Amino acid sequence: MKTLIVYYSRTGNTQAVAELIHAQVGGDLVALETQESRPTNYRAEVDQNEREQNRGILPALKTKISDFEQYERILIGAPTWNMALPQAVMTFLTTYDFNGKTIIPFNTHGGYGAGQMVDQIQDAVDSATTLPILSVTGGQEINGQLLAIKGQTKEAVAKKVTAWLQKIGQ
Ligand SMILES: Cc1cc2nc3c(=O)[nH]c(=O)nc-3n(C[C@H](O)[C@H](O)[C@H](O)COP(=O)(O)O)c2cc1C
Repeated sequence: MKTLIVYYSRTGNTQAVAELIHAQVGGDLVALETQESRPTNYRAEVDQNEREQNRGILPALKTKISDFEQYERILIGAPTWNMALPQAVMTFLTTYDFNGKTIIPFNTHGGYGAGQMVDQIQDAVDSATTLPILSVTGGQEINGQLLAIKGQTKEAVAKKVTAWLQKIGQ
């Protein structure tokens, strides 16, 4: 089965989880990047994201997935932004045809969980099968904590990844 692991990450936490998953399931690992660079300032990103979410703006992606049809299993990783998906991930979900594919979501958050992420994925791609999400605590940029999934925390998350993959039969 051909596997794609795609993720969006600003401060590296979702990327760290994506890499841990990749080490266990293999496949192609791809970072989603927007065509226009994002604000480096945290407050500016919070404001821009909220505006995009409220207005349903879909930022164009620089990242192109070639031969998307070949993938049967697609793992999608995103941080929680304003208790929902960053709009760049919505761009990804609405760009490709997920009919008949299996989607496996994963998430990092700053303490409040994955919010509406799973509902948003299911609404955007109702022709796919969505398996249960892995959601783990990542950074808290609001408090100056960027990459948190390192060292012992990373080892603990690796174990969570193994248990989750087993539970969902992957
Ligand atoms: C614009 C923005 C909005 C965020 N909103 C939330 C939120 O609503 N709830 C939450 O728990 N964490 C929130 N966070 C924290 C991130 O979800 C958390 O730091 C995550 O681990 C970041 O992942 P990354 O390092 O892959 O970018 C927000 C972070 C940013 C930058």
